[in-house]
Amino acid sequence: MPAIGLGTFGSDHVSNDSVAQAVKQAIDIGYRHIDCASVYGNEAEIGDALAEVIASGKVSREELWITSKLWNDKHAEEDVIPSCQKTLSDLKLDYLDLYLVHWPFPNFHAKGCDVSSRSAEAKPYIHANFMKTWRQMEKLVEMGLVKAIGTSNMTEPKLKLLLADAAIKPAINEMELHPHFQQQKLYDFVVSQGIQPVGFCPIGSPARPERDKTADDTVDTEDPVIVEIAKKHGIHPATLCVKWAEQRGQIPIPFSTNPRNMLANIQSLVTPKLSDEEMEALSKIDKNCRLIKGQVFLWKEDQTWEDLWDLDGTIAQ
Ligand SMILES: NC(=O)c1ccc[n+]([C@@H]2O[C@H](COP(=O)([O-])OP(=O)(O)OC[C@H]3O[C@@H](n4cnc5c(N)ncnc54)[C@H](OP(=O)(O)O)[C@@H]3O)[C@@H](O)[C@H]2O)c1
Repeated sequence: MPAIGLGTFGSDHVSNDSVAQAVKQAIDIGYRHIDCASVYGNEAEIGDALAEVIASGKVSREELWITSKLWNDKHAEEDVIPSCQKTLSDLKLDYLDLYLVHWPFPNFHAKGCDVSSRSAEAKPYIHANFMKTWRQMEKLVEMGLVKAIGTSNMTEPKLKLLLADAAIKPAINEMELHPHFQQQKLYDFVVSQGIQPVGFCPIGSPARPERDKTADDTVDTEDPVIVEIAKKHGIHPATLCVKWAEQRGQIPIPFSTNPRNMLANIQSLVTPKLSDEEMEALSKIDKNCRLIKGQVFLWKEDQTWEDLWDLDGTIAQ
């Protein structure tokens, strides 16, 4: 799996055509890994971009790593394979390198895929149901439609249940990871199980509208420790976040539509390593600042955020 990917969800509502254009520019720059999802609503445009670059001979399909994700309203056994086939048709591909269950919660939105509206039909994580979804994910591997399967937004208690019952264990867990949200305990667990952590919002998603509403947080890229170390290395604080991620061992998937930023992010992988002291200083600026809180997946009025994320180590149902 390439050590860096391009995110394709523009939290500041970048147009589908701009994202597709960014995919083409990223491939020109050297990216070989694109992180997609059906819920981002832009797989058809990205598919056109991929078809164009493959037809041009710049890259072959085999050189690319394409990830996509099963959305929450498609967890039913009969929906998993058709959903993957729809994604393949939109992306104009014969297979995916990686297919993820986007969230561990089945969730049906009143207005199509309006992810911001809390669903009256949000459902809790129920392991037996998740396993039915997972069996279909395993079938996709058997069918040759996907090379690998994985999870996203999973917690340690849920992963333990899955690891006990899965015939094919998750290859990766895509999780929120940035210097202000390092999830060290979950990260260590994931790595100890031979699962590759993939970090979303690696720059702390500075353009996300809800970004600044967290009372005790400053934007990662304005953190004085990040700013100082970035200055020493002559790179932008955003690029330092990407470098920290890769050096820590996770695979960052920064979003960008700006070729200069895309280039800086991928180049950060080959600039001199951060020193042990710098990595140590960065490990100390974790603020436990979760940006993607998932409240839309709460299914009971009295349920708390801690329940949702299994923060006491148990799974509320
Ligand atoms: N699995 C999940 O549940 C989940 C959840 C959230 C996100 N994701 C994935 O993770 C990807 C990344 O997350 P994200 O987009 O929220 O946040 P992010 O990658 O942390 O931040 C993206 C923002 O950073 C800016 N940026 C990127 N490189 C920069 C640089 N070198 N210098 C200055 N600014 C820079 C971009 O602006 P410019 O365009 O101007 O460069 C963009 O506004 C998403 O696109 C999506 O694919 C997955």
